[in-house]
Amino acid sequence: MSPDARWLAQLEDRARAVLPAPVLDYVLQAAGDGITASEATQAWRRVRLLPHVMRDVTELDLGVSLLGQHVDVPWGVAPTTWQAGVHPDGELATARATAAVGGLMVVSSNAGTPFDRIAGTGVDWWLQVYLPADRTLAEPMLARAVAAGATAVVLTVDTPVVPVPSQPADTPDLPEPGALRINFDDGYDAEPGADKATDLGPHDLDWLAERTGLPVVVKGVLRPDDARRCVDAGARAVWVSNHGGRQLDRTVATVDALPAVVAEVGGEAEVYVDGGVRSGLDVVAATAAGAAAVFLGRSPLLALVDGEAGVARLHRALTEQVSEALRLTGCRTIADTRGILAAEPAHRV
Ligand code: FNR
Repeated sequence: MSPDARWLAQLEDRARAVLPAPVLDYVLQAAGDGITASEATQAWRRVRLLPHVMRDVTELDLGVSLLGQHVDVPWGVAPTTWQAGVHPDGELATARATAAVGGLMVVSSNAGTPFDRIAGTGVDWWLQVYLPADRTLAEPMLARAVAAGATAVVLTVDTPVVPVPSQPADTPDLPEPGALRINFDDGYDAEPGADKATDLGPHDLDWLAERTGLPVVVKGVLRPDDARRCVDAGARAVWVSNHGGRQLDRTVATVDALPAVVAEVGGEAEVYVDGGVRSGLDVVAATAAGAAAVFLGRSPLLALVDGEAGVARLHRALTEQVSEALRLTGCRTIADTRGILAAEPAHRV
């Protein structure tokens, strides 16, 4: 194992030793009994590959095209909040390290750093939004993201309510109010109508596209029929996610939901996936199963313990592992991985 791969495997142990308990609890938090969160990492290990041999794998290309935009690696940083709780440089460190690898960062609407400062790092970034009950309250934040150069908007749809942790001990101290939602107008949280929308529907995709002029991605889809409704309503991509097991416990693992979604809408829209992705081989398993891109939530946060250098090391370790996996599967590009899934019924695409 290379030093970077060993470091990657020990990411969580290292963060446990270093992070203050409330921050660690917040990052690792899982809904309910934690069944979905713990299954997520195991689920990728069930994927079986059928590698090619005798192919020229001297030169590799890890790049992918997402919504017409070239990114140099097929994994991106999923939206997460309270990055400044993990390291004082917060989103700026994540952005700088991700820009250096030519990767994509999805910035939470609840981020603690102004969008224009994140954009100033030169990172390619998309905005993720939670829409409030009163949609108009989100408009200033959306305008700030567009002005700062976000190139797509990701609507998270699996969060009509944030579940109450089942164990009191699981309730982490909340982040300082100033560490969240800095890109909204002052006093946003006290406004009537600032609660998360419980009536999201296909019309919201039109609304977002109109307000931002950006392609819309829907995050938090697990069913092919929902994916179909999103694409019919204009979504340019569907992001298969169970929110890292932080929302509804006992949801299906995303690796098991992915093939049916790809089969339903993969010909018309891009399909992304996240949840439990911890290694380069997980990334390749996901692209082999039809994902156009793979996102990581907790891993970049745990790497952020070491600031920009930590997130850079995460990207380096993943680059090394994905490159190795491509060579060992006889694939030169990410597109080549589409054919290397063993035809087990649960993972056939
Ligand atoms: C998240 N996630 C999340 N998702 C989102 O759409 N908006 C958000 O603001 C957040 N915030 C957030 C905070 C923290 C601490 C975590 C760990 C996660 C979910 C995230 O985008 C992603 O779906 C999961 O984290 C993916 O699972 P893994 O990679 O963490 O296993």
